[in-house]
Amino acid sequence: MNSKFNVVILAAGKGSRMNSSIAKVCHKLAGKPLIQHVLDTALSMQPVSISVVVGYQHQQVMELCKDVNIVMQDHQLGTAHAAMLAADSISNSYPILILYGDVPLIEVQDIQKLMDNYQSTSVSLLTTTADNPFGYGRVIRDKLGNIIDIIEECDADLSQKKITEIFTGVLAVESKYLLQCRDVLTSQNQQQEYYLPDIVKIAKEDGHSILSHHADDYYSVQGVNNRIDLERLSAYYQDKVAHRLMLQGITITNRKTVNFSGEIKIGIDSIIDTNVSLDNVKIGTGVHIGANSIIKNTSIGDNVIIKPNSIIEGSTIASNSSIGPFARIRPNTVIEENVSIGNFVEIKYSYIQNGSKVNHLSYIGNSNLMSNVNIGAGTITCNYDGVKKHETVIGSNAFIGSGTQLIAPITIGKRATIGAGSTISRDVADDTLALTRSTEKHIANWFRKKKEK
Ligand code: UD1
Ligand code: MG
Repeated sequence: MNSKFNVVILAAGKGSRMNSSIAKVCHKLAGKPLIQHVLDTALSMQPVSISVVVGYQHQQVMELCKDVNIVMQDHQLGTAHAAMLAADSISNSYPILILYGDVPLIEVQDIQKLMDNYQSTSVSLLTTTADNPFGYGRVIRDKLGNIIDIIEECDADLSQKKITEIFTGVLAVESKYLLQCRDVLTSQNQQQEYYLPDIVKIAKEDGHSILSHHADDYYSVQGVNNRIDLERLSAYYQDKVAHRLMLQGITITNRKTVNFSGEIKIGIDSIIDTNVSLDNVKIGTGVHIGANSIIKNTSIGDNVIIKPNSIIEGSTIASNSSIGPFARIRPNTVIEENVSIGNFVEIKYSYIQNGSKVNHLSYIGNSNLMSNVNIGAGTITCNYDGVKKHETVIGSNAFIGSGTQLIAPITIGKRATIGAGSTISRDVADDTLALTRSTEKHIANWFRKKKEK
Protein backbone atom coordinates (compact mmCIF):
# COMPACT_ATOMS: atom_id res chain seq x y z
CA MET A 1 0.00 0.00 0.00
CA ASN A 2 1.00 3.58 -0.61
CA SER A 3 2.14 3.81 2.95
CA LYS A 4 2.10 7.51 3.69
CA PHE A 5 -1.02 9.59 3.27
CA ASN A 6 -3.17 12.13 5.06
CA VAL A 7 -6.78 11.41 5.94
CA VAL A 8 -9.43 14.11 5.60
CA ILE A 9 -12.89 13.35 6.95
CA LEU A 10 -15.73 15.57 5.74
CA ALA A 11 -18.26 16.16 8.49
CA ALA A 12 -19.46 19.74 8.15
CA GLY A 13 -22.70 19.15 6.27
CA LYS A 14 -26.10 19.85 7.67
CA GLY A 15 -27.55 16.37 7.23
CA SER A 16 -30.97 17.95 6.78
CA ARG A 17 -32.52 14.65 5.68
CA MET A 18 -32.06 13.30 9.23
CA ASN A 19 -34.55 15.88 10.62
CA SER A 20 -32.59 16.05 13.85
CA SER A 21 -31.14 18.43 16.41
CA ILE A 22 -28.15 16.08 16.61
CA ALA A 23 -25.41 16.45 13.99
CA LYS A 24 -25.74 13.64 11.44
CA VAL A 25 -22.28 12.19 12.05
CA CYS A 26 -23.01 12.03 15.81
CA HIS A 27 -25.94 9.64 15.32
CA LYS A 28 -25.05 6.18 16.53
CA LEU A 29 -24.71 2.92 14.68
CA ALA A 30 -24.17 -0.12 16.91
CA GLY A 31 -23.75 2.19 19.89
CA LYS A 32 -20.97 4.24 18.29
CA PRO A 33 -21.26 7.63 16.54
CA LEU A 34 -20.93 7.44 12.76
CA ILE A 35 -17.83 9.64 12.80
CA GLN A 36 -16.21 7.43 15.44
CA HIS A 37 -16.48 4.45 13.10
CA VAL A 38 -14.67 6.45 10.43
CA LEU A 39 -12.05 7.78 12.88
CA ASP A 40 -11.33 4.26 14.18
CA THR A 41 -10.86 2.97 10.64
CA ALA A 42 -8.61 5.93 9.81
CA LEU A 43 -6.53 5.47 12.96
CA SER A 44 -6.03 1.77 12.25
CA MET A 45 -4.20 2.73 9.04
CA GLN A 46 -1.74 5.00 10.88
CA PRO A 47 -1.90 7.92 8.43
CA VAL A 48 0.51 10.87 8.53
CA SER A 49 -2.33 13.10 9.77
CA ILE A 50 -6.09 13.08 10.28
CA SER A 51 -8.14 16.22 9.68
CA VAL A 52 -11.86 16.51 10.27
CA VAL A 53 -13.79 19.27 8.52
CA VAL A 54 -16.52 20.52 10.84
CA GLY A 55 -19.12 23.22 10.41
CA TYR A 56 -22.77 22.66 11.10
CA GLN A 57 -23.22 21.78 14.80
CA HIS A 58 -19.42 21.71 15.05
CA GLN A 59 -19.36 21.63 18.85
CA GLN A 60 -21.13 18.28 18.96
CA VAL A 61 -18.81 16.86 16.31
CA MET A 62 -15.62 18.25 17.88
CA GLU A 63 -16.45 16.59 21.21
CA LEU A 64 -15.95 13.26 19.44
CA CYS A 65 -12.81 14.26 17.53
CA LYS A 66 -9.93 14.25 19.99
CA ASP A 67 -6.29 14.37 18.85
CA VAL A 68 -7.06 15.24 15.22
CA ASN A 69 -6.72 18.48 13.23
CA ILE A 70 -9.99 20.35 13.17
CA VAL A 71 -10.73 22.41 10.07
CA MET A 72 -13.64 24.83 10.35
CA GLN A 73 -15.93 25.28 7.36
CA ASP A 74 -18.12 28.21 8.34
CA HIS A 75 -20.37 27.99 5.31
CA GLN A 76 -21.17 24.63 3.80
CA LEU A 77 -20.44 25.45 0.18
CA GLY A 78 -19.98 21.84 -0.85
CA THR A 79 -17.72 18.82 -0.52
CA ALA A 80 -14.99 20.29 -2.76
CA HIS A 81 -14.91 23.47 -0.69
CA ALA A 82 -14.60 21.38 2.49
CA ALA A 83 -11.80 19.21 1.05
CA MET A 84 -9.86 22.26 -0.11
CA LEU A 85 -10.02 23.95 3.27
CA ALA A 86 -8.44 20.81 4.71
CA ALA A 87 -5.83 20.64 1.92
CA ASP A 88 -4.90 24.25 2.71
CA SER A 89 -3.99 23.22 6.23
CA ILE A 90 -1.80 20.26 5.23
CA SER A 91 1.83 21.20 4.66
CA ASN A 92 3.33 17.87 3.55
CA SER A 93 3.21 16.54 0.00
CA TYR A 94 1.71 13.12 0.72
CA PRO A 95 -1.61 12.34 -0.95
CA ILE A 96 -4.94 13.03 0.71
CA LEU A 97 -7.47 10.29 1.27
CA ILE A 98 -10.94 11.77 1.56
CA LEU A 99 -13.44 9.90 3.73
CA TYR A 100 -16.98 10.97 4.52
CA GLY A 101 -18.17 11.20 8.10
CA ASP A 102 -21.49 9.71 7.01
CA VAL A 103 -20.01 6.56 5.40
CA PRO A 104 -19.28 4.63 8.61
CA LEU A 105 -18.58 1.05 7.58
CA ILE A 106 -15.85 1.58 5.03
CA GLU A 107 -13.47 -1.39 5.01
CA VAL A 108 -9.71 -1.05 5.49
CA GLN A 109 -9.10 -3.59 2.66
CA ASP A 110 -10.94 -1.38 0.16
CA ILE A 111 -9.00 1.68 1.24
CA GLN A 112 -5.78 -0.28 0.93
CA LYS A 113 -6.65 -1.30 -2.64
CA LEU A 114 -7.61 2.28 -3.46
CA MET A 115 -4.27 3.52 -2.16
CA ASP A 116 -2.44 0.76 -4.06
CA ASN A 117 -3.99 2.20 -7.22
CA TYR A 118 -3.02 5.72 -6.39
CA GLN A 119 -0.12 7.24 -8.29
CA SER A 120 1.06 10.82 -8.04
CA THR A 121 -0.89 13.24 -10.20
CA SER A 122 -3.75 10.81 -10.40
CA VAL A 123 -7.17 10.76 -8.87
CA SER A 124 -8.13 7.40 -7.41
CA LEU A 125 -11.81 6.72 -6.70
CA LEU A 126 -13.69 4.12 -4.71
CA THR A 127 -16.85 3.07 -6.54
CA THR A 128 -19.48 0.41 -6.02
CA THR A 129 -22.61 -0.93 -7.68
CA ALA A 130 -26.01 -0.20 -6.16
CA ASP A 131 -29.27 -1.94 -7.09
CA ASN A 132 -30.96 1.33 -6.28
CA PRO A 133 -28.47 4.11 -7.02
CA PHE A 134 -30.90 6.90 -6.16
CA GLY A 135 -29.20 9.85 -4.46
CA TYR A 136 -25.65 8.92 -5.39
CA GLY A 137 -23.20 10.40 -7.86
CA ARG A 138 -23.14 8.17 -10.98
CA VAL A 139 -19.80 7.10 -12.47
CA ILE A 140 -19.66 8.03 -16.17
CA ARG A 141 -17.27 5.96 -18.28
CA ASP A 142 -16.33 6.29 -21.96
CA LYS A 143 -16.63 3.45 -24.45
CA LEU A 144 -13.24 2.08 -23.39
CA GLY A 145 -14.38 1.96 -19.80
CA ASN A 146 -12.31 4.92 -18.61
CA ILE A 147 -13.92 7.14 -15.99
CA ILE A 148 -14.57 10.60 -17.42
CA ASP A 149 -17.02 12.22 -15.00
CA ILE A 150 -19.29 11.83 -11.98
CA ILE A 151 -22.79 13.25 -12.19
CA GLU A 152 -24.92 13.91 -9.10
CA GLU A 153 -28.49 12.57 -8.92
CA CYS A 154 -30.06 15.99 -9.27
CA ASP A 155 -27.90 16.90 -12.26
CA ALA A 156 -28.25 13.56 -14.05
CA ASP A 157 -30.37 12.99 -17.15
CA LEU A 158 -32.61 9.96 -17.50
CA SER A 159 -29.99 7.71 -19.10
CA GLN A 160 -27.35 8.70 -16.51
CA LYS A 161 -29.81 7.94 -13.71
CA LYS A 162 -29.94 4.34 -14.96
CA ILE A 163 -26.22 3.86 -14.28
CA THR A 164 -25.76 1.64 -11.25
CA GLU A 165 -22.04 2.22 -10.68
CA ILE A 166 -21.87 4.96 -8.04
CA PHE A 167 -19.20 7.07 -6.42
CA THR A 168 -18.78 6.24 -2.73
CA GLY A 169 -17.37 9.66 -1.86
CA VAL A 170 -13.99 8.15 -1.01
CA LEU A 171 -11.06 9.27 -3.14
CA ALA A 172 -7.31 9.86 -3.05
CA VAL A 173 -5.74 12.90 -4.64
CA GLU A 174 -2.57 14.95 -4.38
CA SER A 175 -3.24 17.97 -2.16
CA LYS A 176 -1.37 20.33 -4.50
CA TYR A 177 -3.47 19.17 -7.43
CA LEU A 178 -6.70 19.44 -5.46
CA LEU A 179 -5.85 23.06 -4.65
CA GLN A 180 -5.01 23.74 -8.30
CA CYS A 181 -8.58 22.76 -9.22
CA ARG A 182 -9.89 25.60 -7.09
CA ASP A 183 -9.72 28.08 -9.96
CA VAL A 184 -11.62 25.84 -12.34
CA LEU A 185 -14.35 24.44 -10.05
CA THR A 186 -17.74 26.10 -10.21
CA SER A 187 -20.96 25.77 -8.25
CA GLN A 188 -23.10 25.91 -11.37
CA ASN A 189 -25.25 22.90 -10.59
CA GLN A 190 -28.65 22.15 -9.11
CA GLN A 191 -27.43 22.42 -5.52
CA GLN A 192 -25.19 25.45 -6.22
CA GLU A 193 -22.39 23.71 -4.33
CA TYR A 194 -18.76 23.02 -5.11
CA TYR A 195 -18.80 19.29 -5.79
CA LEU A 196 -15.70 17.26 -4.96
CA PRO A 197 -16.55 14.68 -7.66
CA ASP A 198 -16.17 17.48 -10.25
CA ILE A 199 -12.39 17.21 -9.93
CA VAL A 200 -12.70 13.95 -11.90
CA LYS A 201 -13.72 15.76 -15.07
CA ILE A 202 -11.12 18.49 -14.49
CA ALA A 203 -8.34 15.95 -13.94
CA LYS A 204 -9.40 14.05 -17.06
CA GLU A 205 -9.25 17.24 -19.14
CA ASP A 206 -5.82 18.00 -17.62
CA GLY A 207 -4.63 14.64 -18.93
CA HIS A 208 -4.35 12.92 -15.56
CA SER A 209 -5.34 9.32 -15.11
CA ILE A 210 -8.49 8.51 -13.16
CA LEU A 211 -8.13 5.18 -11.41
CA SER A 212 -10.73 3.31 -9.45
CA HIS A 213 -11.29 0.37 -7.16
CA HIS A 214 -14.70 -1.27 -7.00
CA ALA A 215 -15.90 -2.13 -3.48
CA ASP A 216 -17.89 -5.35 -3.86
CA ASP A 217 -19.79 -4.96 -0.62
CA TYR A 218 -22.25 -2.16 -1.29
CA TYR A 219 -23.26 -1.69 2.35
CA SER A 220 -19.69 -1.12 3.48
CA VAL A 221 -19.63 2.09 1.43
CA GLN A 222 -23.22 3.18 1.87
CA GLY A 223 -23.73 6.72 3.17
CA VAL A 224 -26.25 7.59 5.85
CA ASN A 225 -28.48 10.41 4.65
CA ASN A 226 -31.69 9.64 6.54
CA ARG A 227 -32.88 7.36 9.32
CA ILE A 228 -33.95 4.63 6.93
CA ASP A 229 -30.33 4.40 5.76
CA LEU A 230 -29.26 4.31 9.41
CA GLU A 231 -31.57 1.41 10.25
CA ARG A 232 -30.58 -0.50 7.13
CA LEU A 233 -26.87 -0.10 7.82
CA SER A 234 -27.35 -1.07 11.48
CA ALA A 235 -29.13 -4.27 10.43
CA TYR A 236 -26.34 -5.02 7.96
CA TYR A 237 -23.73 -4.47 10.69
CA GLN A 238 -25.59 -6.71 13.16
CA ASP A 239 -25.97 -9.47 10.57
CA LYS A 240 -22.30 -9.28 9.76
CA VAL A 241 -21.17 -9.63 13.38
CA ALA A 242 -23.73 -12.39 14.05
CA HIS A 243 -22.74 -14.37 10.95
CA ARG A 244 -19.06 -14.14 11.88
CA LEU A 245 -19.83 -15.45 15.38
CA MET A 246 -22.12 -18.23 14.18
CA LEU A 247 -19.50 -19.44 11.74
CA GLN A 248 -16.98 -19.40 14.59
CA GLY A 249 -19.16 -21.82 16.59
CA ILE A 250 -21.51 -19.68 18.66
CA THR A 251 -25.26 -20.32 18.72
CA ILE A 252 -27.46 -17.24 18.40
CA THR A 253 -31.05 -18.24 19.05
CA ASN A 254 -32.72 -15.34 17.29
CA ARG A 255 -30.34 -13.01 15.48
CA LYS A 256 -32.92 -10.27 14.82
CA THR A 257 -33.31 -9.66 18.56
CA VAL A 258 -29.63 -9.55 19.50
CA ASN A 259 -27.55 -6.38 19.43
CA PHE A 260 -23.79 -6.19 19.26
CA SER A 261 -21.59 -3.15 19.67
CA GLY A 262 -17.92 -2.54 20.32
CA GLU A 263 -15.46 -5.41 20.29
CA ILE A 264 -17.08 -8.84 20.64
CA LYS A 265 -15.07 -11.97 21.38
CA ILE A 266 -16.94 -15.18 22.21
CA GLY A 267 -15.61 -18.73 22.58
CA ILE A 268 -17.08 -21.79 20.87
CA ASP A 269 -20.27 -23.50 22.04
CA SER A 270 -21.53 -20.43 23.81
CA ILE A 271 -25.23 -19.69 23.39
CA ILE A 272 -26.75 -16.23 23.08
CA ASP A 273 -30.46 -16.33 23.79
CA THR A 274 -33.25 -14.02 22.60
CA ASN A 275 -33.19 -10.27 23.18
CA VAL A 276 -29.61 -9.96 24.40
CA SER A 277 -27.45 -6.86 24.11
CA LEU A 278 -23.66 -7.22 24.16
CA ASP A 279 -21.33 -4.24 24.09
CA ASN A 280 -17.57 -4.68 24.20
CA VAL A 281 -17.39 -8.12 25.81
CA LYS A 282 -14.96 -10.99 25.99
CA ILE A 283 -16.79 -14.24 26.68
CA GLY A 284 -15.27 -17.70 27.09
CA THR A 285 -16.38 -21.08 25.75
CA GLY A 286 -19.59 -22.88 26.69
CA VAL A 287 -21.18 -19.78 28.22
CA HIS A 288 -24.96 -19.39 28.19
CA ILE A 289 -26.29 -15.84 28.06
CA GLY A 290 -29.97 -15.96 29.04
CA ALA A 291 -32.76 -13.97 27.43
CA ASN A 292 -33.14 -10.22 28.02
CA SER A 293 -29.63 -9.79 29.42
CA ILE A 294 -27.53 -6.67 28.87
CA ILE A 295 -23.75 -7.03 29.22
CA LYS A 296 -21.29 -4.20 28.70
CA ASN A 297 -17.51 -3.77 29.06
CA THR A 298 -17.24 -7.13 30.76
CA SER A 299 -15.05 -10.20 30.62
CA ILE A 300 -16.60 -13.63 31.29
CA GLY A 301 -14.71 -16.94 31.70
CA ASP A 302 -15.69 -20.43 30.46
CA ASN A 303 -18.92 -22.30 31.28
CA VAL A 304 -20.53 -19.35 33.01
CA ILE A 305 -24.32 -19.25 33.11
CA ILE A 306 -25.95 -15.84 32.92
CA LYS A 307 -29.61 -16.51 33.66
CA PRO A 308 -32.31 -14.34 32.04
CA ASN A 309 -32.84 -10.63 32.72
CA SER A 310 -29.39 -9.94 34.16
CA ILE A 311 -27.53 -6.66 33.71
CA ILE A 312 -23.74 -6.68 33.97
CA GLU A 313 -21.42 -3.74 33.44
CA GLY A 314 -17.69 -3.12 33.79
CA SER A 315 -17.01 -6.41 35.58
CA THR A 316 -15.05 -9.64 35.40
CA ILE A 317 -16.67 -13.02 35.97
CA ALA A 318 -14.46 -16.10 36.18
CA SER A 319 -15.26 -19.59 34.90
CA ASN A 320 -18.04 -21.86 36.19
CA SER A 321 -19.94 -19.12 37.98
CA SER A 322 -23.67 -18.50 37.72
CA ILE A 323 -25.41 -15.13 37.68
CA GLY A 324 -29.13 -14.30 37.87
CA PRO A 325 -31.93 -14.42 36.94
CA PHE A 326 -32.64 -10.71 37.53
CA ALA A 327 -29.15 -9.94 38.87
CA ARG A 328 -27.45 -6.59 38.51
CA ILE A 329 -23.66 -6.55 38.56
CA ARG A 330 -22.38 -2.99 38.56
CA PRO A 331 -18.92 -1.67 37.56
CA ASN A 332 -15.68 -2.72 39.21
CA THR A 333 -16.94 -6.06 40.39
CA VAL A 334 -14.71 -9.11 40.19
CA ILE A 335 -16.37 -12.49 40.60
CA GLU A 336 -14.07 -15.46 40.92
CA GLU A 337 -14.75 -19.11 39.97
CA ASN A 338 -17.71 -21.23 41.14
CA VAL A 339 -19.56 -18.27 42.58
CA SER A 340 -23.34 -18.20 42.59
CA ILE A 341 -25.19 -14.89 42.40
CA GLY A 342 -28.96 -15.38 42.45
CA ASN A 343 -32.14 -13.49 41.76
CA PHE A 344 -32.66 -9.85 42.71
CA VAL A 345 -29.08 -9.41 43.87
CA GLU A 346 -27.19 -6.18 43.23
CA ILE A 347 -23.42 -6.13 43.49
CA LYS A 348 -21.29 -3.02 43.11
CA TYR A 349 -17.53 -2.43 43.34
CA SER A 350 -16.93 -5.73 45.09
CA TYR A 351 -14.65 -8.73 45.03
CA ILE A 352 -16.44 -12.04 45.41
CA GLN A 353 -13.96 -14.87 45.87
CA ASN A 354 -14.12 -18.55 44.93
CA GLY A 355 -17.17 -20.56 45.86
CA SER A 356 -19.12 -17.77 47.56
CA LYS A 357 -22.91 -17.59 47.29
CA VAL A 358 -25.24 -14.61 47.32
CA ASN A 359 -28.40 -16.26 46.20
CA HIS A 360 -31.38 -14.04 46.96
CA LEU A 361 -32.48 -10.40 47.28
CA SER A 362 -29.26 -8.80 48.55
CA TYR A 363 -27.14 -5.67 48.10
CA ILE A 364 -23.38 -6.08 48.25
CA GLY A 365 -21.43 -2.84 47.72
CA ASN A 366 -17.77 -1.93 48.30
CA SER A 367 -17.22 -5.38 49.73
CA ASN A 368 -14.61 -8.08 49.74
CA LEU A 369 -16.10 -11.55 50.23
CA MET A 370 -13.40 -14.15 50.70
CA SER A 371 -13.86 -17.74 49.59
CA ASN A 372 -16.94 -19.86 50.38
CA VAL A 373 -18.90 -17.12 52.08
CA ASN A 374 -22.65 -17.73 52.27
CA ILE A 375 -24.88 -14.68 52.25
CA GLY A 376 -28.48 -15.32 53.30
CA ALA A 377 -31.51 -13.80 51.63
CA GLY A 378 -32.12 -10.10 52.10
CA THR A 379 -28.64 -9.15 53.34
CA ILE A 380 -27.54 -5.56 52.93
CA THR A 381 -24.06 -4.11 53.24
CA CYS A 382 -24.79 -0.58 54.48
CA ASN A 383 -21.84 1.01 52.68
CA TYR A 384 -22.90 4.66 52.57
CA ASP A 385 -23.19 7.02 55.54
CA GLY A 386 -24.50 9.86 53.43
CA VAL A 387 -21.02 11.25 52.87
CA LYS A 388 -18.58 8.42 52.20
CA LYS A 389 -18.61 4.83 50.99
CA HIS A 390 -17.15 2.28 53.41
CA GLU A 391 -15.82 -1.23 52.95
CA THR A 392 -17.21 -4.53 54.21
CA VAL A 393 -14.79 -7.45 54.49
CA ILE A 394 -16.15 -10.94 55.09
CA GLY A 395 -13.70 -13.73 55.91
CA SER A 396 -13.72 -17.11 54.23
CA ASN A 397 -16.39 -19.62 55.20
CA ALA A 398 -18.41 -16.99 57.09
CA PHE A 399 -22.18 -17.49 57.17
CA ILE A 400 -24.38 -14.40 57.12
CA GLY A 401 -27.94 -15.19 58.20
CA SER A 402 -30.92 -13.87 56.26
CA GLY A 403 -32.14 -10.33 56.74
CA THR A 404 -28.81 -9.05 58.05
CA GLN A 405 -27.50 -5.50 57.80
CA LEU A 406 -23.73 -5.08 57.98
CA ILE A 407 -22.89 -1.46 58.79
CA ALA A 408 -19.60 -0.60 57.09
CA PRO A 409 -16.75 -0.13 57.69
CA ILE A 410 -16.82 -3.61 59.15
CA THR A 411 -14.89 -6.87 59.08
CA ILE A 412 -16.52 -10.24 59.70
CA GLY A 413 -14.00 -12.90 60.69
CA LYS A 414 -13.35 -16.26 59.09
CA ARG A 415 -15.95 -18.94 59.82
CA ALA A 416 -17.98 -16.35 61.79
CA THR A 417 -21.77 -16.74 61.89
CA ILE A 418 -24.25 -13.88 61.93
CA GLY A 419 -27.68 -14.75 63.25
CA ALA A 420 -30.59 -13.98 60.96
CA GLY A 421 -32.20 -10.57 61.30
CA SER A 422 -29.17 -8.89 62.88
CA THR A 423 -27.84 -5.37 62.48
CA ILE A 424 -24.08 -5.64 63.00
CA SER A 425 -21.98 -2.52 63.47
CA ARG A 426 -18.81 -3.82 65.14
CA ASP A 427 -16.13 -6.13 63.72
CA VAL A 428 -16.79 -9.82 64.41
CA ALA A 429 -13.80 -12.04 65.29
CA ASP A 430 -13.02 -15.37 63.60
CA ASP A 431 -15.13 -18.37 64.72
CA THR A 432 -17.66 -16.15 66.51
CA LEU A 433 -21.45 -16.04 66.50
CA ALA A 434 -22.85 -12.50 66.49
CA LEU A 435 -26.52 -11.59 66.64
CA THR A 436 -28.61 -8.62 67.67
CA ARG A 437 -32.10 -9.85 68.17
CA SER A 438 -34.63 -7.97 70.27
CA THR A 439 -36.61 -10.13 72.66
CA GLU A 440 -39.53 -11.77 70.96
CA LYS A 441 -42.91 -11.09 72.59
CA HIS A 442 -46.08 -13.16 72.19
CA ILE A 443 -49.32 -11.58 73.45
CA ALA A 444 -52.04 -14.15 73.58
CA ASN A 445 -55.67 -13.46 72.65
CA TRP A 446 -54.86 -10.18 70.94
CA PHE A 447 -57.32 -9.12 68.27
CA ARG A 448 -56.89 -6.44 65.63
CA LYS A 449 -59.35 -3.57 65.66
CA LYS A 450 -62.18 -4.00 63.20
CA LYS A 451 -62.98 -1.31 60.63
CA GLU A 452 -66.25 0.49 61.32
CA LYS A 453 -68.67 -0.09 58.46
C1 UD1 B 1 -21.84 12.73 -1.88
C2 UD1 B 1 -21.24 12.83 -3.30
C3 UD1 B 1 -21.84 11.74 -4.18
C4 UD1 B 1 -21.59 10.38 -3.55
C5 UD1 B 1 -22.11 10.35 -2.10
C6 UD1 B 1 -21.67 9.08 -1.41
C7 UD1 B 1 -20.81 15.20 -3.62
C8 UD1 B 1 -21.25 16.45 -4.26
N1 UD1 B 1 -21.54 14.12 -3.85
O1 UD1 B 1 -23.24 13.02 -1.99
O2 UD1 B 1 -21.22 11.78 -5.46
O3 UD1 B 1 -22.24 9.40 -4.34
O4 UD1 B 1 -21.58 11.45 -1.35
O5 UD1 B 1 -22.19 8.99 -0.10
O6 UD1 B 1 -19.77 15.17 -2.98
N2 UD1 B 1 -19.91 17.96 3.74
C9 UD1 B 1 -19.06 18.93 4.24
N3 UD1 B 1 -19.18 20.21 3.78
C10 UD1 B 1 -20.09 20.58 2.82
C11 UD1 B 1 -20.94 19.55 2.33
C12 UD1 B 1 -20.82 18.26 2.79
O7 UD1 B 1 -18.22 18.67 5.09
O8 UD1 B 1 -20.11 21.76 2.46
C13 UD1 B 1 -19.76 16.57 4.26
C14 UD1 B 1 -21.02 16.03 4.92
O9 UD1 B 1 -21.02 16.30 6.30
C15 UD1 B 1 -20.94 14.54 4.65
C16 UD1 B 1 -20.15 14.45 3.35
O10 UD1 B 1 -19.51 15.70 3.18
O11 UD1 B 1 -20.23 13.85 5.66
C17 UD1 B 1 -21.05 14.16 2.15
O12 UD1 B 1 -22.04 15.18 2.05
P1 UD1 B 1 -23.54 14.84 1.63
O13 UD1 B 1 -24.30 16.10 1.60
O14 UD1 B 1 -24.04 13.72 2.43
O15 UD1 B 1 -23.30 14.38 0.12
P2 UD1 B 1 -24.17 13.32 -0.69
O16 UD1 B 1 -25.38 14.00 -1.20
O17 UD1 B 1 -24.34 12.11 0.11
MG1 MG C 1 -24.14 11.63 2.10
